[in-house]
Amino acid sequence: MAANPWDDKTLDPDKRADLVVKQMTLDEKITVVDGLFGSVARLNGREIEPVAGVLMGSAGHIPGVPRLGIPAQEETDAGLGVATQGNTRDKVRERTSLPAGLATAATWNPEIAFQGGAAIGSEARLSGFNVMLAGGVNLTREPRNGRNFEYAGEDPLLAGTIVGAEIKGVQSNHIVSTIKHFAENDQETGRMVASAEMDDDQARMSDLLAFQIAIEIADPGSVMCSYNRVHGTYACENDLLMTKILKKDWGFKGYVMSDWGADYSTAKAINAGLDQESAWVFDGINHFGDDLKKAVADKSVSQKRLDEMVHRILRSLFAKGVMDDPVKPGPIDYAKDGAASQADAEEGIVLLKNDGGLLPVKPGLKKVVVIGAHADVGVPAGGGSSLVYPVGGNAFPGIAPTTWPGPVMFHPSSPLKALKSRLGQAEIAYADGVDPAAAAKLATGADLVLVFARNWDGEDHDEPLTLPDNQDALISSVAAANSKTVVVLETGNPVLMPWLGKVSGVVEAWYSGTSGGEAIARVLTGEVDASGRLPITFPASLDQLPHPQLVGTDKPNIPGGPAYALDYPEGAAAGYKWYDRQNLSPAFPFGFGLSYSTYAYENLSAQEEGGKVTVSFTVKNTGSRPGKSVPQVYVGHQGDGWEAPRRLAGWQKVVLQPGQSKQVTLSVDPRLLAHYDGKTHKWEIAKGSDELSLGSSSRDFTQKASVDLDAKSF
Ligand code: BGC
Repeated sequence: MAANPWDDKTLDPDKRADLVVKQMTLDEKITVVDGLFGSVARLNGREIEPVAGVLMGSAGHIPGVPRLGIPAQEETDAGLGVATQGNTRDKVRERTSLPAGLATAATWNPEIAFQGGAAIGSEARLSGFNVMLAGGVNLTREPRNGRNFEYAGEDPLLAGTIVGAEIKGVQSNHIVSTIKHFAENDQETGRMVASAEMDDDQARMSDLLAFQIAIEIADPGSVMCSYNRVHGTYACENDLLMTKILKKDWGFKGYVMSDWGADYSTAKAINAGLDQESAWVFDGINHFGDDLKKAVADKSVSQKRLDEMVHRILRSLFAKGVMDDPVKPGPIDYAKDGAASQADAEEGIVLLKNDGGLLPVKPGLKKVVVIGAHADVGVPAGGGSSLVYPVGGNAFPGIAPTTWPGPVMFHPSSPLKALKSRLGQAEIAYADGVDPAAAAKLATGADLVLVFARNWDGEDHDEPLTLPDNQDALISSVAAANSKTVVVLETGNPVLMPWLGKVSGVVEAWYSGTSGGEAIARVLTGEVDASGRLPITFPASLDQLPHPQLVGTDKPNIPGGPAYALDYPEGAAAGYKWYDRQNLSPAFPFGFGLSYSTYAYENLSAQEEGGKVTVSFTVKNTGSRPGKSVPQVYVGHQGDGWEAPRRLAGWQKVVLQPGQSKQVTLSVDPRLLAHYDGKTHKWEIAKGSDELSLGSSSRDFTQKASVDLDAKSF
């Protein structure tokens, strides 16, 4: 068969896309930009069937143009694995789930993030999907945000680096990944109506910088614009975000797709930079179908702009390998992908408190008591569109809500069973924790008590920072009965710990995914080091937050409803930067986490050459166990538009045997030495001295150095 001219792989993706666009009819162009839903939509009490040919239960379907060899775009959620939409007519897809995005960020290990992305991207591919709606990178500003667990924490460098690596892993399977939700969609309360009123320069240095870094690392095929408004304009109609910043300033060559139900117009959205309407049934009106044809006819959308939209989509399909290496369903290697998920979960578990070295669990214990959170059967997951249905089914079905954003899911990987298989000699008892007095009685006299505590974060709602279901009382009464109590948190966000002073240990295990039980047991028993570090600050109390009360809980959240302002008094000082600026002491600071070994950081030096700063130091394992250290470098500067005293400037995760030392050299992204100035439209480095601090968290520095910088703009 004669090849089409665009089949020539030696041509660049832009050229190839141009060659196709030239051959396309108006109807074919419309087909490519007009997204359909891939499942049964339940809207206003009605059930709307999807068109024939969708991968049932999927997030979206854009028919192909077989005449020109353009494949259908088959879209699946999300960043933790291949999800299934609620209301599917078919069986759900049971797939591998990575741990929460926060857990992956807590690894501080881009290689782990890449491997996780590669695993879920391969499952997408083998399930017939060529577009994965992964890559959530909204910064944690509101710790009650029900979707924080999908994202990568509060720091733009850490979040951008980890999410960039994950997207790269997804796309290594020759499929497109998105990055989302662009932008400033930092809480679920009011997400359909609220207007983010963040200063634009401060946004460039925080939320937008996280996107920019991830996009530079991964070059995702698509960006998903978000539900919320920004300065009164919907993100998917926002020229500043989509065209000026993303496409012009950052040179993004892929396409922008709308979130599901986030597009309110045809010409307005398109002329502001939206390239594809997703699952239009959620928009109520099909803006990119016949309405777009009319808009082209009446010239409110130019032919040139329509061609550009199609070009951007096809360009991504060429650039990411979708055209040359079409997806083909096939058998999935669950053991391999489960191992990637487990490695991710293990490195992301954060040991927050370990009084008396109770952990790792010592050999020879006689009696261990495990309590709560259904640890006898599985580990919890978060809810919403990112929910991956586990192979083997829900380990504890029936907890409300059982429909979207539920069901409340437990992956069938039991920490209790994984502990039993490792602590064969000990008597291990379990209590469900529903009755605190009974649990305390069981705990009395045990050599070790592990209380598992969980919350349920999910899309479309925010959650208080207080553990639900009387679990604080449970922990307090167990700790009163036995001081050798360790709390294992399985939460999608920080929680307040009124019992902190009464327990000996605290472990944050997040939502730990497909192999979570094994991962938790391996960290608790010290088979692997505790090497996670917090990607978010744990507040000591709600009054420390920029908004002690969630904003907007009293406002209706109806698509198209009246806007209300969501202000961000912290500006770019999200998370630890706010605590530093306000001089607040959190419960646990950003970057914190204990290891089973100890480390010394020495010989810090900093060099400046042509505005580029590098730092070097040595890290030594001074303990008696092999371990993984995460030395962190923060840069500080006084004044000149800096949002806070210090910013994370670099880190490395270093594997060390006892007594071993390694030399680390890091270069500092020049944007982290600068502030963004909307007047000059540039990053500005101010003349002066910058202080570099080396330590084990954002609050614990052992070494300092400084560099003198000349003024520079770029
Ligand atoms: C979410 C997106 C998701 C989409 C498709 C929306 O509700 O905000 O993250 O990709 O649904 O399921």
